[in-house]
Amino acid sequence: MTTIANTPVYAREDSAAPGVIGLAERGLVPDALLRAGIRRQCAARLAHERAGGEAATAERFQALIESLRHSDVAIHTDAANGQHYELPPAFFELCLGSRLKYSSCYYPRAGMTLNDAEEAMLALYGERAELVDGQSILELGCGWGSLTLWMAQRYPRARITAVSNSASQRRHIEARCAALSIRNVQVITADVNTLALPESDYDRCVSIEMFEHMRNYATLLGRIGGWLKPGGKLFVHIFTHRTLMYPFETDGDGDWMARHFFTGGLMPAADTLLWFQDDLHIEGRWLLDGTHYQRTANHWLARQDANQAAVMGVLAEAYGDAARLWFQRWRMFWMACAELFGYAGGTEWGVAHYRFVRPAKR
Ligand SMILES: C[S@@+](CC[C@H](N)C(=O)[O-])C[C@H]1O[C@@H](n2cnc3c(N)ncnc32)[C@H](O)[C@@H]1O
Repeated sequence: MTTIANTPVYAREDSAAPGVIGLAERGLVPDALLRAGIRRQCAARLAHERAGGEAATAERFQALIESLRHSDVAIHTDAANGQHYELPPAFFELCLGSRLKYSSCYYPRAGMTLNDAEEAMLALYGERAELVDGQSILELGCGWGSLTLWMAQRYPRARITAVSNSASQRRHIEARCAALSIRNVQVITADVNTLALPESDYDRCVSIEMFEHMRNYATLLGRIGGWLKPGGKLFVHIFTHRTLMYPFETDGDGDWMARHFFTGGLMPAADTLLWFQDDLHIEGRWLLDGTHYQRTANHWLARQDANQAAVMGVLAEAYGDAARLWFQRWRMFWMACAELFGYAGGTEWGVAHYRFVRPAKR
């Protein structure tokens, strides 16, 4: 039996919450009503973050930027692992697209499938990160290998080092590499907080939706700058709010999302990373509106629902008697993502891409 071993208690609340959220967690609130409630929470979040007007918001933003400089690189890393990354990969195989891309996909055309949209986003990374065959590439936060395996197949002479803090992700990627006869990938299980790598070794570092788990971007970008060769580049994909930045807080009543799915996480603003250019300098930034993530999350929900019986089997292994509760919590998670990113036609929250360069001379 697969269990989420060592998962801290606060990451595994196996009984439904009181009140309306509890009703929703028991599946007693219709999805349309639930989605309307989530949109109301999005509006409340915007009002809360903008309280006091522009000057007060800017002051709080500046204070948070400064506090990030004094944080650990990432916090609550075991919680994030328990909440997502050590779940059996079979769960994600039943919900995500065929490349197991656990991050926003890209829908440049109407009517695209989830698998098309995975491919479209991966191709966009190739262009924007200026990847070419033969490079030495470091990937931070590799998930179940969506980009790792795409790069390995597309650039067979590249040397790819993929890192994540989840051992089950490593085992999954290693099995896929064996099945596909891929030999140019090495997967390392390590917490980015303590990751040690050779200096000046990589032409590229790529990272897709891992930075939202990070706090101290000054230290992280400094370390990445050391691992890159002079002239080497970092490509980052994160989800963002256009202007606001806020941590997911678990204190007090906490936020449902922070308690169950994103403990220690941060919603960065589209310009957050631009404040940390001591070691790496920005070359390009691209913004995608939130509808791409909205469609991605709705596709994940549709797959979970379509595969209900098989999903329940996997969740029963992972969560035991609380499987039904977690089945619904995962449905609520996909809906929360879809409604957040789709809010106001995708104009508030969205996705951002950045390319930084390590200057040839410091
Ligand atoms: C949202 S997933 C994205 C996965 C993958 N990049 C994708 O797009 O499919 C975030 C990834 O970051 C990793 N991660 C989160 N916090 C980490 C940490 N402190 N150290 C190492 N990896 C971490 C997770 O294990 C996971 O692989």
